[in-house]
Amino acid sequence: MALQNLHAAQTAQKDEFYTQLPDIENELKNYKSHFKDKVVFCNCDDPYESNFFKYFANNFNYLGLKKLIATCYNGSHITGTELSLFEEEKESDKIAYKVEISEVSDVNGDGRVDLADVEYLIKNKKNVLTRLKGNGDFRSKECIELLKMADIVVTNPPFSLFREYIAQLIEYDKKFLVLGNMNAITYKEVFPLIKHNKLWIGYGFNMSLVYKSPYENKLEANRAFVRQKGYNPDKFIKVPAIAWFTNLDHKKRHEDLILYKKYTPEEYPKYDNYDAINVDKVSEIPCDYEGVMGVPITFLDKYNPEQFEIVEFRKGADGKDLVYSIREEKRREEKRRESRLYSHTSEYSSVDANSRTDEQSQRYCGTREKQVCKNTDSATSIPGMIKNAEGKINGKITYARITIRKIK
Ligand SMILES: C[S@@+](CC[C@H](N)C(=O)[O-])C[C@H]1O[C@@H](n2cnc3c(N)ncnc32)[C@H](O)[C@@H]1O
Repeated sequence: MALQNLHAAQTAQKDEFYTQLPDIENELKNYKSHFKDKVVFCNCDDPYESNFFKYFANNFNYLGLKKLIATCYNGSHITGTELSLFEEEKESDKIAYKVEISEVSDVNGDGRVDLADVEYLIKNKKNVLTRLKGNGDFRSKECIELLKMADIVVTNPPFSLFREYIAQLIEYDKKFLVLGNMNAITYKEVFPLIKHNKLWIGYGFNMSLVYKSPYENKLEANRAFVRQKGYNPDKFIKVPAIAWFTNLDHKKRHEDLILYKKYTPEEYPKYDNYDAINVDKVSEIPCDYEGVMGVPITFLDKYNPEQFEIVEFRKGADGKDLVYSIREEKRREEKRRESRLYSHTSEYSSVDANSRTDEQSQRYCGTREKQVCKNTDSATSIPGMIKNAEGKINGKITYARITIRKIK
C-alpha cells in the first residue's frame, strides 16, 4: 500500500521522460569545442537508461573529456533495459548510483569505442561504480559535492523541479546544457537570467520530442506522431514545447536576424501602458524602428545580444500586463487620419485628438467605424505566456510579449 502511494505520488510528478539519442546528438553537435578536458556531470541520469550517459561515454575520446560522472535517482522507474552495467543490482530499482568514467579505450579491439567497452571497463574496475549514500537527489550533499567537481552539467532534469535545478546551477556557477519546457522562459526565476545573458536558448527550441516513458499514452494524435517518428506509442510519448537551455556560447546566438519590414504606425500600434509598439511575428520586426518593441517570446530563439537588448518582460510602465485597448487604438487611428486629412485645413487644427471626449471621438468615426467603436470598446491584455480569453489584440488571440530594442 505504502509503495503504491509512493508510486502514485511519483507518477503524479510526471518526471519520467527519457531522452532519445538522436535528440541529444542533434543539439550536442554544436558545442564540441566546449568539452575538451572538461568534467561532465549528468546528475539525473541512471546509466541503465540514460542516453546522456550513453552519448558522453560513446564520445568520451572524440570530445576529449577528462571525466564523465552520472548519478541516478532512486525514484526512477525504468530499469536496465538498454544497458546492463550493474547486473548484480538488477533486482532493485531503488538504489542510487554514481558512475565515474575517466578512461574509455577500445579494449575489445573492434576499432570503435562503444558501450561494450564502457561495460567492460566498469566490470574490470577501471572506472568507478559506487552506490550513493542517499537517494541521488541532485540537491543532496553528496550530489552537490560532485557538482562542485564538474565543469559542465548536461541532462534533462525533472521538469517539476526545473526552477530549483537551474537555481542550483547558477548558485554553483556551472556551465550547463539542459532540456526543459519552453514555458520555463516565463518563470520569474528564469527570465531575469535570460535578460542578463546568464542563460539562453540552445539550437533546439519549441520542439515536439518523443520520449521513452512509463506513462500511458492515450491520445490518438500523440500516438500517431510517435508512430510516424518510428517509435512504439505504448512505450514512447510525444511532449511538445521543449527547448534547450544553456550558458554555453554557440554560433547561432551571434547570427543577425534579417529584418525586412518597414515601420508604419498603422501596422505596429503602441501599447496603452507602455511606450512600445506591438509586433505580432518575429519575422516582422521592423528594421527601422529605434524604440522599444513587444515581440512574441519565440523571439528568444533568434536572440542575438549584439543585435538586440531585452528591455522587459510583459509588464507595462504601470507594473500591469501590457494592454492594448481597441478604443485607444481607434483613437490613435483617428488621430493619424486626421493629421493627414486636416493638415491643410484650419477647421480642426486646434483639436487635440488625445484630449477628445468619447463623444467627440465617435463624431470622427465613419458610420461603419462608429458601429465598430461601439461593439469593440474593450481593453485587451497580454497576461502571460498562456493564451487565454483576455489575451487578445483587436479580437485576435495573442501571446505574451518580451520587450526588446535594437542596438545595431
Ligand atoms: C525527465 S527525466 C530525464 C531522465 C534522463 N536525464 C533522460 O534525459 O533520459 C528526469 C529524471 O530525473 C529523475 N529525478 C526526479 N527527481 C529527481 C531529483 N530530485 N534528483 C535527481 N533526479 C531526479 C527522475 O526519476 C527522472 O529519471
